[in-house]
Formats: sequence, structure tokens, C-alpha cells
Amino acid sequence: MEMFTRLLYSLFLVLICNGVPSVGQKKRETLLSEKVSQMMDWASKRSVIRMNGDKFRRFVKAPPRNYSVIIMFTALQPQRQCGVCKQADEEYQVLANSWRYSNAFTNKVFFATVDFDEGSDVFQMLNMNSAPTFINFPAKGKPKRSDTYELQVRGFAAEQLARWVADRTDVHVRVIRPPNYAGPLMLGFLLAVIGGLAYLRRNNLEFLFNKNVWAFSALCFVLIMTSGQMWNHIRGPPYAHKNPNTGQVSYIHGSSQAQFVAETHIVLLFNSAVTMGMVLLHEAATSDLDIGKRKIMCVAGIGLVMLFFSWLLSIFRAKYHGYPYSFLMS
Ligand SMILES: *[C@@H]1O[C@H](CO)[C@@H](O)[C@H](O)[C@H]1NC(C)=O
Repeated sequence: MEMFTRLLYSLFLVLICNGVPSVGQKKRETLLSEKVSQMMDWASKRSVIRMNGDKFRRFVKAPPRNYSVIIMFTALQPQRQCGVCKQADEEYQVLANSWRYSNAFTNKVFFATVDFDEGSDVFQMLNMNSAPTFINFPAKGKPKRSDTYELQVRGFAAEQLARWVADRTDVHVRVIRPPNYAGPLMLGFLLAVIGGLAYLRRNNLEFLFNKNVWAFSALCFVLIMTSGQMWNHIRGPPYAHKNPNTGQVSYIHGSSQAQFVAETHIVLLFNSAVTMGMVLLHEAATSDLDIGKRKIMCVAGIGLVMLFFSWLLSIFRAKYHGYPYSFLMS
């Protein structure tokens, strides 16, 4: 009999706790499903949901929530002059699109962004003073230390971000990039030129055994690679930056974290000039031209090396603030 009472009692307790939802719980449930369907609605319109302070407080900060939100805090307005923000934004779009259009897409994770000029109150609330910053707001609890992405260490490539998202939310995003035809096209063009040359000179292929041709090609390859053309190809930075307020164009990025395309061309030119100077000096010492010409070559070589090396150093100093050494000019 006692057993039966106890059973009845526990059944009663179970009913109270689970079976009959209280009014508050029901409200919470409707609120949650409203929020989820609103988020889904936004996500169907754009892969990265834009949030201002109000939306952030309602859909990210306030409970109830059963979804994670990855947020990129950024400053994309031109007057903020955040070049890195633009590049990070492109990678973030690639990541969010890969998730949005994958078969695995669910309402477990959403990608959103808060721009400083639309939600500076959020920046203040979170005590944040640098952009871009990526933070995961987990479905349960507050963001922990590791919910802030280590941008300085890991960079902002979409693949790295995806790894971090998988780590924090258990959602695996396979990054799919829109195809880039520039690389294969250039390669095809180069092969066509080489093939054409070989065809035109098919009776005289001796140039293939010419040391200078190979040396020159190798030098071109080295100059292209060391000046950062591959980096441009991968990151796709802007050609230069025009300050919208003053109209002033800067060709050199002001930090060592990034570079403009124009900058790599300048570095390419300067490196070639230094190399040219070296070659002239070498020729001056070893060729059998008359001594007057060799003297001129020697002076020109020294001039080229000194001038362009000095300019290279000043570019480096402009990017890497506090570098102590300079040569000829500051
Ligand atoms: C979150 O809750 C809503 C409403 O109950 C539900 O539709 C949705 O599937 C839930 N999401 C997850 C990831 O469980």
C-alpha cells in the first residue's frame, strides 16, 4: 500500500514537472519558435544576418535561445578605413554561403554581423575595441574565452574559421569557394605563348639550351613570388586605397598585416632594380668590354643597388613601425 502511494506521488510530481507545462514555459516555447523562424527567415534572404543593437539584444543576448550565433563584429564603412575588415568580410561570406547552401544546413547555427556604425552600443556593451572580431554565442551559457576567434594567430581564411566553428558548435561546414578562373587563364596564356614561340622557332630550338633564357625565367619566377603575387591571388586585396574624405590615394598599406596589389608591384619593381644593379656589377667585373664602359656599368650598378635598396627599406619601415635601421633616407 505504501508502495502504491509513493508511486502515485511520484507520478503526480512527474505530471507537474513535465506533463502539464506552466504558462511561463508555454510562452517561452512560443517565443523561442518565433525567434527561430524569424532567424530562419533572415537567413533565407542573406547568408550573413545583419544586426543592429536591438536585434542583437533580442536574438542573441536574451533567452530563450537553442541556436548558436557566430557574429563578426566589424567596421565596413569606408570612413573607418579598415582594410582588413573588408578582406575578413569576404572570407566570412564564403563561409556563411557554404553553410547556407549546404545539404546539412539547420537552424542550429546562424552567421551574423554587427557593424560598428549600426550597433556601436553592442561594441560598448561587450567592451570591444578592435575589428574585425569573431565571437560565438553558444546555444547555452555565455561565450567563453575560446568562443572568441584568435584572429591574430589563425588568420581569417574561411577554412580556418570553419575549423573553429566546428570546434565550438559541432557544426561542420565544408567551405566551397566560387571558382576563380584568373589563375588557370594566365597559365593557359603563358603555355600558349611558349608553345607559339617554340612553333615559330621550330627549326632552331637552340634557345631552349640557352643559359640566359633559363636564368631570366627563374629570376622572373623568384621576383613574382617574393613580391607577394601569390598572396594577392589567394587573398584578393584591393589595388590601392582611396581615402573618401581627403581623396588621397595610398598605395602602401600602413601595417605589416596586409598589402595592396599596387604595393606588391612597387616591391617587384624595386627588387628587379636591385637585381639589375647586381647583374651590372657582376658584368662590370667579368666582361671583356673596354674599361670605360665597365666603369660606367660599375657606377650605374652601385647607384641602382643603393637607391632601390634604400627605398625598399623605407617601405618596410613605413609598414613595420619601430624598425630601427635605415639607409640613405628615412
Ligand atoms: C529550437 O526550438 C525550436 C522551437 O521549439 C525548434 O523548432 C527548433 O528545431 C529547435 N532547434 C534546435 C537546433 O533544436
